[in-house]
Amino acid sequence: MLYIGVDLGTSAVKLLLMDGEGKIQKIVSKEYPIYFPNPGWSEQKPEDWFAQTMEGIKELIAEAEASQIAGISFGGQMHGLVILDQEDQVIRPALLWNDGRTYEECDYLNNVIGKEKLSEYTANISFTGFTAPKILWVKNKEPENFAKIAKIMLPKDYIAYKLTGVNCTDVSDASGMLLLDVKNRCWSKEMCDICGITVDMLPKLYESYECVGTVKAEIAKELGIPETVKVAAGAGDNAAAAVGTGTVGEGMCNISLGTSGTIFISSKNFGVDKFNALHAFAHADGNYHLMGCMLSAASCNKWWMEDIIGTDKYADEQKDITKLGENHVYFLPYLMGERSPHNNPNARGTFIGMTMDTSRADMTQAVLEGVAFALRDSLEVAKSLGIKLERTKICGGGAKSPLWKKMIANILNLKVDVIESEEGPALGGAMLAAVACGEYTNVEAAAEKIVKIIDTVEPDPELVAKYEARYQQFKEIYPACKPLFEIIK
Ligand code: XUL
Repeated sequence: MLYIGVDLGTSAVKLLLMDGEGKIQKIVSKEYPIYFPNPGWSEQKPEDWFAQTMEGIKELIAEAEASQIAGISFGGQMHGLVILDQEDQVIRPALLWNDGRTYEECDYLNNVIGKEKLSEYTANISFTGFTAPKILWVKNKEPENFAKIAKIMLPKDYIAYKLTGVNCTDVSDASGMLLLDVKNRCWSKEMCDICGITVDMLPKLYESYECVGTVKAEIAKELGIPETVKVAAGAGDNAAAAVGTGTVGEGMCNISLGTSGTIFISSKNFGVDKFNALHAFAHADGNYHLMGCMLSAASCNKWWMEDIIGTDKYADEQKDITKLGENHVYFLPYLMGERSPHNNPNARGTFIGMTMDTSRADMTQAVLEGVAFALRDSLEVAKSLGIKLERTKICGGGAKSPLWKKMIANILNLKVDVIESEEGPALGGAMLAAVACGEYTNVEAAAEKIVKIIDTVEPDPELVAKYEARYQQFKEIYPACKPLFEIIK
């Protein structure tokens, strides 16, 4: 049988067709616009997501045997607020995961309601990108829109709703709403009260690998697929990427170098970090995970390459970078503010350390290293909780760069396992669909069969030591700049 994985990303939707053995048959990508109506704001139109997903599926299955298609599932950009009215019309563009406008609402949640209460109700505190502060923002700043809300959902859930008519979500994605009691995998009535909403506005909760229904007759007709095609709830893109890289079960790690950068640690047990610097979320395999998320990762490199130095020849630019661990230029990668671990929407991108002999290659190197150092910041929090990691998987667009993988291996002092397919969330989505259709007994069994490690980048002790010294310097830069970020905002 065939399974479709939909990775509803920030720059594009990526669609992947996988057979029952886990072999990828085809990949299609369809872009859509992102809007930045004010500094730090970030929005997309759910209608664009759906239109491009439909176009993408048509192209994906154009040569496939339609009767063989058994299931569809998702990895979706997390935290985005999609609101529908009584007639199921989208009320306003979705506020995305990297939108920083809700700092007043976060302040209210973290400091008036209080972090202890939030952590007790949801296992997390408020970050500007999370969904609950966005609901409060609409309530406070757009009361006429708030009054129209009949349904609240996450980005991928909008697609599932359009495909099936079932208002559903999964526990991994729901964890990032700050409305889920993560430990008990159910909605928090207290958080709904705090946000002024009712539980019946929220989608029905499923595990990621559960079937929520089948495609609607008119969708089956438009796509030319059987009406029996099952739709599984799917997962937030990081949990889906973890499935697609085999980061399931106990103590496994995955780094995703996409628009955002995440470090994802799977766990069989529920656990919360005392300062809530890492997110404590449910995992798509039925267990839990901890995650650090930086808001700009591969997007820093894209910005530097394409917007600033004006090239799309990424590999060419990286050819001149030879002196690893010796760069005097540092870059703070906070182009959209920062989530983990600083939780500061006012943080900004910063270069420091240039001299007259600084070259273009040094600056490019600083950008790549800055992202790796910032991931290390989250790794340090995990280490402080007693978590011991030796290795990590890696996925996302940035994982295509051998140089970047080498930097990550040495800056984080982790063995980096490279897997056959870097298509984390889309592959994970297809695997969840396969589990929902009974092709595999559970997510771990699917990962064991499908995910293959093809190479490992080993840290080199000499380079690790050099980078350790650099990281100690990097660590000092954010605290020194922090007061300035308050002035220049
Ligand atoms: C995770 C997060 C991002 C988005 C990117 O908390 O906000 O990784 O999911 O799509």
